[in-house]
Amino acid sequence: MKGIIFSVLSKFIEEKKGLEVLDEVLEKTNLESGGVYTSLKTYPDAEFITILKTFSEISNLKHDEILFELGKYMLIEMSKTYPTFFEVKSLKEFLLSIHDVIHVEVRKLFPDALTPQFSFENNNSNELTMIYKSTRQLCRLAEGLIHGASEYYKTPIEVSQSQCYLRGDPNCRIEIKFLS
Ligand code: HEM
Repeated sequence: MKGIIFSVLSKFIEEKKGLEVLDEVLEKTNLESGGVYTSLKTYPDAEFITILKTFSEISNLKHDEILFELGKYMLIEMSKTYPTFFEVKSLKEFLLSIHDVIHVEVRKLFPDALTPQFSFENNNSNELTMIYKSTRQLCRLAEGLIHGASEYYKTPIEVSQSQCYLRGDPNCRIEIKFLS
C-alpha cells in the first residue's frame, strides 16, 4: 500500500489520541519501515494491518470502527491535498467519478498503486449501489470514505451492505440512499 495511506493513518492516530499513543503504536509494532513513510513508496499491506491491530488494542476501539473513522478522516485530508477531484457539483457525481477518474489519476500519480475496483448500479436519482472488489477487503474503509464525502458535500445518506466479503460473499454491495 502507498506511503500516503500510511501517512494519513499516522496523522489520524496522532489527532485522535495524541503523539504518545502514536509513538506507543509504532514502538510496539516493530515495523520494517520504522514507521517513517514517503508518499510515493510502497509498503507491505501487512504493516497497515499490524498498525491497525496494535492501535485497536491500545485504544480499545474495534478494528472496524477504526477503519470507518479513518475513511472519513482520509476523505477530508484528500480534499485538501487534491481539490481538483472535488470540483464536481454533487455527492453522486463524485462517487461515480471514483473509479473512472479519481483512481485512474491516482495510478498516474502513484505508479504501482493497487486501487480497488468499483462498478455501479444507478437506476434511480436518489439511490446508488457501489459494488466493491478488492483482495484487501477494506469495505469498512470504503464506507468511511463515502460518509466523509457525504459530509464534504453536505448531503446526508443512509448506507447498507446487502453483500459483504466479511460475510463470505464474492464482493461487497454498498447501497447508498441520498436523503436530500
Ligand atoms: C469516496 C471516495 C473514495 C473511495 C470509496 C475510495 C476507496 C478506496 C479504498 C477502499 C482503498 C483501499 C485499497 C483497497 O480497497 O484495495 C483505496 C485506496 C486508495 N485510494 Fe481511494 N477511494 C476514494 C477516494 C479517493 C481519493 C479522493 C483519493 C485521492 C488521492 C484516493 C486515493 C487512493 C490511494 C492513493 C489509495 C492507495 C492505493 C495503494 O496503496 O495501492 N481515493 N481507495
